[in-house]
Order: sequence, then C-alpha cells, then structure tokens
Amino acid sequence: MSMATIDDVKIIELPKCMDPRGNLSFVEQLHHIPFEIKRTYWIYDVPGGEFRGGHAFKQNEEFIIALSGAFDVVVDDSKCKKVFTLNRSYYGLYVPAGLWREMENFSTNSVALEFGSLHYSETDYIRDYNVFINLKENGLL
Ligand code: TYD
Repeated sequence: MSMATIDDVKIIELPKCMDPRGNLSFVEQLHHIPFEIKRTYWIYDVPGGEFRGGHAFKQNEEFIIALSGAFDVVVDDSKCKKVFTLNRSYYGLYVPAGLWREMENFSTNSVALEFGSLHYSETDYIRDYNVFINLKENGLL
C-alpha cells in the first residue's frame, strides 16, 4: 500500500514545441509520466455543474491532462485537501494511488485525458469516502 499524501501529487510541465503552424506537446512513459501506461481514457461532454471521479484507487496511479478547456482536480489525503486547476494542455497532474480525488468545474467543451498505471478493475476502486477515511486512519492505504 502506498500511504501517499497531498505532497506526492505533482504538477508536471510538459514539453511545448511552439510553432506558428500550431503548438505540439507530448508525454513519454517513465519519463514525464512516472509509470508505465496500461490505460488511457478521456472525459468529455461534461454538462455544466457536474463532477466526476469521486473515488480513490488502491494501486492505480494516474496522470491527468486538460487537453482542452479547464477543470479542477480536488485531491484529499484524509488530513488535507488541495485543489489543482488544470487549464493548459502542456501541464499534467500526477496523482499517486491511495488518495481521494474528484474533478469539478469543467468548462464548456473541456476534455480530460487520463493515463493509468493499471488496466481497469473495479476492485481497485474505493468509492465510499468513509471507507477511504477508515483505511487512511488505520494506515492501510
Ligand atoms: P469511473 O471511473 O467511475 O468514472 P468517474 O470516476 O470519472 O466518474 O468510470 C465510469 C464507468 O466507466 C464505470 O462504470 C466503468 C467504466 N470504465 C471502464 O470500463 N474503463 C475505464 O478505464 C474507466 C476509467 C471506466
């Protein structure tokens, strides 16, 4: 188990190739993204006022990019909560396993691109906040 805290969450600035024809950014696993990528998914067409991702992962690490538009990622380690606003496509947010996180304040037409270190598995999710707090308080997550 990871015992991660808010201090392990990192904003990572990605390469940006500025070009009058249009800019280009990229990510590489085990380089900008500090894990091997097993999964990529994206969240889009989020209606105004909705929030996503109220859960923690036991093992899955994540890297989140606001490919378009803006949104907030609220990360909680059971003692502290921190809001990371993503609003540029050349920044990524690294979120280790073992933290509660929610995504909110999606702007119109925003797209959240997410990389994961594990294949999708419902058994890796903690979806009950009280269970999360309990595991944290007992040093089990
Ligand atoms: P979920 O992770 O619960 O969304 P969020 O936390 O962002 O609100 O995923 C929503 C649904 O999508 C869930 O029922 C399972 C499915 N899903 C997959 O099948 N594979 C995936 O990689 C992800 C992230 C979700």
